[in-house]
Amino acid sequence: MEIIRSVEWMKDAARTAESKERLIGFVPTMGALHEGHLSLVRAAKQQCSPVVVSIFVNPAQFGPGEDLAGYPRNLEHDCHLLEALGVDYVFAPDTAEIYPAGFRTSVRVDGLSEKFEGRIRPGHFQGVCTVVLKLLEIVRPRFAYFGRKDAQQAHIVRQMVSDLNLDAEIVVCPIVREADGLAMSSRNAYLDGEQRRAATALYRSLDAARRKIEAGARGAGEILDEVHTVLDSEPLAKLDYAATVAADSFEITHFLTGSCLLLIAARVGSTRLIDNMFIEERDGSFSAVL
Ligand code: PAJ
Repeated sequence: MEIIRSVEWMKDAARTAESKERLIGFVPTMGALHEGHLSLVRAAKQQCSPVVVSIFVNPAQFGPGEDLAGYPRNLEHDCHLLEALGVDYVFAPDTAEIYPAGFRTSVRVDGLSEKFEGRIRPGHFQGVCTVVLKLLEIVRPRFAYFGRKDAQQAHIVRQMVSDLNLDAEIVVCPIVREADGLAMSSRNAYLDGEQRRAATALYRSLDAARRKIEAGARGAGEILDEVHTVLDSEPLAKLDYAATVAADSFEITHFLTGSCLLLIAARVGSTRLIDNMFIEERDGSFSAVL
């Protein structure tokens, strides 16, 4: 496995792979890798060779007062995990390599970037899109892998790729959870024992909504009531938003039709956690995937 620090070297490696007609698979990350990230790497390994994983804590997607400085970093450990999975290249540039002095450009996907996570974290998705576009141009993958854990991010990146006629195909992979249902996240490391227990309220609230849907509920109001009931009974968790949206537009839907997502975001202490559930219609009945 080769660890590449420079944009030019990464471009060279990608061009060489491209010239041999090899299928580049790419997994962008901010490091502090867990099984969620590794599931994306495994999916990439199944379809592609070479596989490139980027590790870059992107300052542009953190707002003032967010956790940029304290974001967990452990490049050496991450590289051990990636080597064991047979990754070919780790692209780990420093900030000045991606944002050299004088950098002035940014990319925004209008409308989609200002709701839900974007409303609470202004500028966040602009930072995500800018770095993802740069990374896609540097690595030039045929497939790029994202987690449904960050469903709005994956949707916005897909929109950007389509709008800008980029060559990469965006593959969205399932959410990997801890044994008690908590969606894996690098930010779970911020939780103390009590908060870690309280954090399962997000999963429990989605699971309650799933049971309601499978019992026949179709109205967003009655489904979201289940989410509120579970989260209201957890004093350490504070709900930011809960909403049902159409999966292909992220428009709020008041009644389940087609494929939908139930999105939730909550604060446990000062840690923000997000989670979601995919709701799929098949032959007039709905099933929910956590
Ligand atoms: P990061 O939070 O490190 O996540 C990298 C990828 O791992 C994202 O696609 C995310 O959705 C996925 N992921 C995280 N937790 C997951 C889980 N429990 N199950 C499945 N997939 C999971 O997302 C980012 O970094 C950044 O915004 C990035 C795209 C790298 C741009 O800077």
